[in-house]
Amino acid sequence: MRNLTRILVLGAALAWLPSCDRGETADHPGKRTYERYCFSCHAAGVADAPKFGDRASWGTRLEKGEDALLQSVIDGMPPGMPVMGLCYACSEEQLRDSVDYMLEALE
Ligand code: HEC
Repeated sequence: MRNLTRILVLGAALAWLPSCDRGETADHPGKRTYERYCFSCHAAGVADAPKFGDRASWGTRLEKGEDALLQSVIDGMPPGMPVMGLCYACSEEQLRDSVDYMLEALE
């Protein structure tokens, strides 16, 4: 019985460790928000949304700079780009991170 407990504890610790290693800290802070909210349109370029990782599809938008792009996300760009990219619970910082994540993918 005691051994079994030990094995279970060890097993739980081992299962936890690797998820710690490659966890949140290694990822870009905007990745999660992007994957939950922005991905649905920006991966495939729904309704002409500028595509993730495809610099050409962003065209002159990039010249606006990150602040202006973030403002578009906060305000939305009717009709295609929804207010706050549909993440109504997101803080400005989370939205900024998700924009930053998309911009980094273009580098
Ligand atoms: C329902 C689809 C949809 C979702 C969800 C969505 N977008 Fe968009 N997004 C669009 C479309 C379409 C455009 C192009 C709008 C236009 O130019 O009229 C756009 C444009 C943008 C732009 C360019 C803004 C500019 O000033 O040119 C940024 C940056 C952006 N989205 C970021 C995001 C982020 C970050 C999220 C998630 C938090 C998100 N989008 C979620 C559809 C979406």
